[in-house]
Amino acid sequence: MHVSSGEHSPAQRIQPGPSYQVSYAERIKLEVGITTIAVGLITEAEQAEGIVATGQADAIGIARAVLYNPRWPWHADARLGAQVSTPPQFWRSEPHHIKNLFQH
Ligand SMILES: Cc1cc2nc3c(=O)[nH]c(=O)nc-3n(C[C@H](O)[C@H](O)[C@H](O)COP(=O)(O)O)c2cc1C
Repeated sequence: MHVSSGEHSPAQRIQPGPSYQVSYAERIKLEVGITTIAVGLITEAEQAEGIVATGQADAIGIARAVLYNPRWPWHADARLGAQVSTPPQFWRSEPHHIKNLFQH
């Protein structure tokens, strides 16, 4: 279950901020035991990794940050020291300050 919060009723008092809906996914996972995807202003690599690593959710989803920067997953991989699998044509695009981002 991908857990957003609707926000269609003025009676809801939602305060958008970093990870603001993650606790909903966490609670559903805990109480119902189903696989959850957390969303809600997850914008940083470490923030995303932390949510999954600590078991708050099984996966995370990102919308707004990816609308702004479609290469967000590559930047997150570079920051976390992970690798990206691409066709060889991309390999020479690796910036000098990043090493071994592309899996050869
Ligand atoms: C243009 C747009 C419209 C959205 N509309 C709704 C909505 O009506 N109800 C809702 O619960 N979530 C809505 N969302 C949130 C998405 O379901 C998704 O959970 C969320 O965008 C992911 O979080 P993030 O954008 O903070 O990364 C919308 C997102 C976008 C970008």
